[in-house]
Amino acid sequence: MNKDLISINDLNKEEAVELLELATRLKSGAIKPALDGKTLALVFEKPSLRTRVTFEAGMTQLGGHAIYLNRGDIQIGERETVSDAAKNLERWVDAIAARTFAHKTVVELARNAGIPVINALSDYEHPCQALADFLTIKEHKSGLDGLKIVYVGDANNVCNSLYLLAAVLGVDFVVSSPEGYRLTDDIARAGSASAKISGARLELIDDPREAVENADVIYTDVWVSMGQEDEKEERVQVFEKYQVNAGLVERARDDVIVMHCLPAKRGYEITDQVLDGPHSVVFDEAENRLHAQKALLVKLMKSI
Ligand code: CP
Ligand code: NVA
Repeated sequence: MNKDLISINDLNKEEAVELLELATRLKSGAIKPALDGKTLALVFEKPSLRTRVTFEAGMTQLGGHAIYLNRGDIQIGERETVSDAAKNLERWVDAIAARTFAHKTVVELARNAGIPVINALSDYEHPCQALADFLTIKEHKSGLDGLKIVYVGDANNVCNSLYLLAAVLGVDFVVSSPEGYRLTDDIARAGSASAKISGARLELIDDPREAVENADVIYTDVWVSMGQEDEKEERVQVFEKYQVNAGLVERARDDVIVMHCLPAKRGYEITDQVLDGPHSVVFDEAENRLHAQKALLVKLMKSI
């Protein structure tokens, strides 16, 4: 495996499958690997519930320790350069998980630190979320073969990582987004390159009602991501037709599961009825952040 996990593109199929299998074994308690005496630095420019708690609890459970550093602590790129911060951190800790506004900040951290760097969400990708979500899908659908996953809404960081991981693993994936908020060309290209190897069918279908037909999984995320607060008014209008509500869910397979990385803006991208309803697996996803990230920590930190 690469030194870092910055993008899903850092993983090939074998590595992704291995991480998911390791997560399952850790979750069941079948193995108890240790990261005794190891320290993970959490460098976070944005707020977090799930990512912070799962990385901290994960390190504790593995016998190590995590240090949380928020925007005000490091003021990365302001108080000192990203590369200077990286070159300090590598002298004290064994790995870094970074949540940044600009994707290039996490890339630069990885380039300048001789220790593993994990993307804990950037404006471009959220690979830890995608790994946990495929673990959740695998559990609920008893495997990944022959599934159709439909992402409805903003083709954002979460969508990018899910799309790329589906392409790597060979799972069919549809993105249903309005004009102006579709996948960027580079993500579409990277997905196509992986799909050529894996055989995944990747599609863009603007109309969400058409997109969710025969879906095994419907996934959505907020319309306004962290850092886009100024665009809220416009986005709420653009995405109105992309709400995951009972009417939309009814058009999918009877056993469809509904996913959301959380936090959710209830009543916007998803209704209370769906989020709290029988198809929803959102808290299983949240739980699996812990198991998937523990697998990642073991893989990346054990090798150094
Ligand atoms: N899904 C997720 O990353 O949640 P947090 O922003 O709370 O970490
Ligand atoms: N797309 C959201 C995900 C939050 C976990 C954001 O970036 O704010």
